[in-house]
Amino acid sequence: MLATHNLSFSYQDETVLHDLTFDFGRCAVTGIVGENGCGKSTLFMNLNGVLRPNSGAVLWQGKPLNYSKAGLIEHRQRVTTVFQDPEQQIFYTDIDSDIAFSLRNLGVNEAEITRRVEHAIELVDAQSFRHKPIQYLSHGQKKRVAIAGALVMEADYLLLDEPTAGLDPSGRQQMIEIIARIATQGKHVVISSHDIDLIYEVCDGVYVMNRGKIVAQGSPGTVFSQSEMLRAAGLVQPWLVKLHSELGFPLCKTETQLFNALRETKEA
Ligand SMILES: Nc1ncnc2c1ncn2[C@@H]1O[C@H](COP(=O)(O)OP(=O)(O)O)[C@@H](O)[C@H]1O
Ligand SMILES: [Mg+2]
Repeated sequence: MLATHNLSFSYQDETVLHDLTFDFGRCAVTGIVGENGCGKSTLFMNLNGVLRPNSGAVLWQGKPLNYSKAGLIEHRQRVTTVFQDPEQQIFYTDIDSDIAFSLRNLGVNEAEITRRVEHAIELVDAQSFRHKPIQYLSHGQKKRVAIAGALVMEADYLLLDEPTAGLDPSGRQQMIEIIARIATQGKHVVISSHDIDLIYEVCDGVYVMNRGKIVAQGSPGTVFSQSEMLRAAGLVQPWLVKLHSELGFPLCKTETQLFNALRETKEA
């Protein structure tokens, strides 16, 4: 299981992560919300071993990460990360080669590569643009290719840093469906975002960060009912929670659920 224990991290003399203890094994989909600059991307770089904590630790199965080259290669097969900018993770112009890149690096046999690439393309719903050169894809499609490139590792954990940043509404909706689909494959997904509605809809567990500290944690319903805490962290309540707390509407996880509940009340 992936966790951290009292992790602190500084860039030069500025401490940006303060004494953070996370347990990412508890929920299938864990969300980390916090305003820009609160430390989400820095945390993800600590979780995949690109950066090393100044104190405390990243834990895998209860043991501190091994930062040797071999240790990190092993760690990144269990925990794969997709960063915000897909351009940084795209190496080829054709999608299949790009998705297969890390597996070829590891010397996985071609039959296995084909199987995993097919499965990943299906999960991110990339069949329709699979044969286009990558440079012609939209930002959202590039993000899906980057996620497929991580999924082929068949890691236990997938970390998605700001998966909906820069996406249009339909791209965002597709991303929500992709995340739900990945979670049903028995993987743990950790999502960082300042898109509060996204985190509310797709996560079973939530941490709120404010200036490098954890200021709340728990189920989305509980965490997002705390409007004062959210305001202090520079965030707002998800709109579905606001309708519940301000107007007494039923507390629903998705728009569809809310509309169905309201239709039933109207018909009754
Ligand atoms: N390479 C870096 N060197 C120095 N400071 C950095 C660096 N990267 C990020 N920071 C600072 O660390 C803090 C956290 O940034 P970041 O992890 O990117 O936050 P988030 O992803 O939540 O927006 C910010 O104050 C940012 O300015
Ligand atoms: Mg960031």
